[in-house]
Amino acid sequence: MPNGRGERVLMRTQNNALDPLKLLLSYPDEDRAGNIMAGEHRTPRPGIGEKPMKMLEAKGLDHFIDVCAAIYDGQLTADQLAALKIRDQRSAVGGARPKRTYRLDHKLVLAKPRDTFDHYDLPSFEHACMTFAASKGMQIAGTALHRREKGNTLPVERFDRERSQQQKKFRRIPMLSGLTLLDAEWHGRANKGWIYAALADEFYRRGAPEADRQELYRRKAYNALVGNSDDHPRNHAVIWQDGAWRLSPLYDVLPVLGEGPAQALAMEVGIRGPC
Ligand SMILES: Nc1ncnc2c1ncn2[C@@H]1O[C@H](COP(=O)(O)OP(=O)(O)OP(=O)(O)O)[C@@H](O)[C@H]1O
Ligand SMILES: [Mg+2]
Repeated sequence: MPNGRGERVLMRTQNNALDPLKLLLSYPDEDRAGNIMAGEHRTPRPGIGEKPMKMLEAKGLDHFIDVCAAIYDGQLTADQLAALKIRDQRSAVGGARPKRTYRLDHKLVLAKPRDTFDHYDLPSFEHACMTFAASKGMQIAGTALHRREKGNTLPVERFDRERSQQQKKFRRIPMLSGLTLLDAEWHGRANKGWIYAALADEFYRRGAPEADRQELYRRKAYNALVGNSDDHPRNHAVIWQDGAWRLSPLYDVLPVLGEGPAQALAMEVGIRGPC
């Protein structure tokens, strides 16, 4: 589920607060990350997942960026909100920043635009971190940088969907977040159980090969070097590939800016904790 920002999107379209279950049910399943499908019946509604995702093209993206700005603008009237068709701009994908799934050629991408109130051009920073990691031989979710008058947007290739050749539809690839693997809490006490070594153990328990544990170690080092103190367990995942759980490509790595050099990671790196 989206965190703060995604909830705000929904609250703007409904005039009252929603409890967590209603919130879960209010998001479209089509682009949800992870293994859960949410609904009121055991079988999905007919047509679910059949509607093709919108293509990432100039006008659609510009509209999405306008909507992102409007979410922060408490002054908009109900009519103005209706005109923006905010409901169509939702995404069930988690994370704090605005994002939406689009089709780009034969792939699905997660579009992460620059927010109106961002002091820094985060899409450029994220693109730089990802391409640098790739140049060092790390497995990354492919990114690009779309430059527009309204601001830059980062499309990230989704690794949890695959296109079925016959039907031209996208299928989910099973995915588990690091938080699920660790059986840890998101709003828990002092990031309890968020430990790199424990995550490596979970890879081992689920039969992921040694190479994935080595790659996780590289990511831990890279996060420290880049200053990505937002390396929480939802920013790590495994996906089901060729009959085994494998570490997913790298995603959401960028320095946390504006607070000076990062003092600690979000996850514990050794016996002395996250520093
Ligand atoms: N390339 C991808 N393919 C599939 N799922 C992805 C991909 N990138 C991100 N996700 C999923 O979407 C979630 C949100 O994406 P991401 O972490 O990039 O957003 P964010 O808003 O920057 O997050 P945060 O709150 O960690 O800063 C991730 O936790 C993960 O579950
Ligand atoms: Mg994230």
